[in-house]
Amino acid sequence: MTYSNEVMDHFMNPRNVGEIEDASGVGTVGNAKCGDIMKVYLKIEDGVVKDAKFKTFGCGAAIATSSMATELVKEKTIQDALSITNKTVMEALHGLPAVKVHCSCLAEEALHAALWDYAQKNDIVIEGLNPPK
Ligand code: FES
Ligand code: FES
Repeated sequence: MTYSNEVMDHFMNPRNVGEIEDASGVGTVGNAKCGDIMKVYLKIEDGVVKDAKFKTFGCGAAIATSSMATELVKEKTIQDALSITNKTVMEALHGLPAVKVHCSCLAEEALHAALWDYAQKNDIVIEGLNPPK
């Protein structure tokens, strides 16, 4: 199994590790296939994601995808943040080995769960966003 340079870089030097204390939204998801857990914190101001951090208890691919997802979501509007999928994250990482594709789902799900939490806290509806599973 070979990983792209981008995956190795984001695994060895993950960006945005940590918590945001006054986060606007927090999403925690688990991967039923492997038991790994990912938590994403978003700081949203005026409808734009100003900061993103994560904590992941998981494999290298889960850490690399959390790192990339939190990088990609910064400075995005809520609608653009919502359109970030596991495919977007994988493309930005120049691919993942087939057996590791499911790990990238965690990043998408955690991002969406954090947006859902934000919407709940502010009593708003984000079009196209479904409640976390
Ligand atoms: Fe494997 Fe989503 S967790 S497909
Ligand atoms: Fe669990 Fe990758 S093996 S997220």
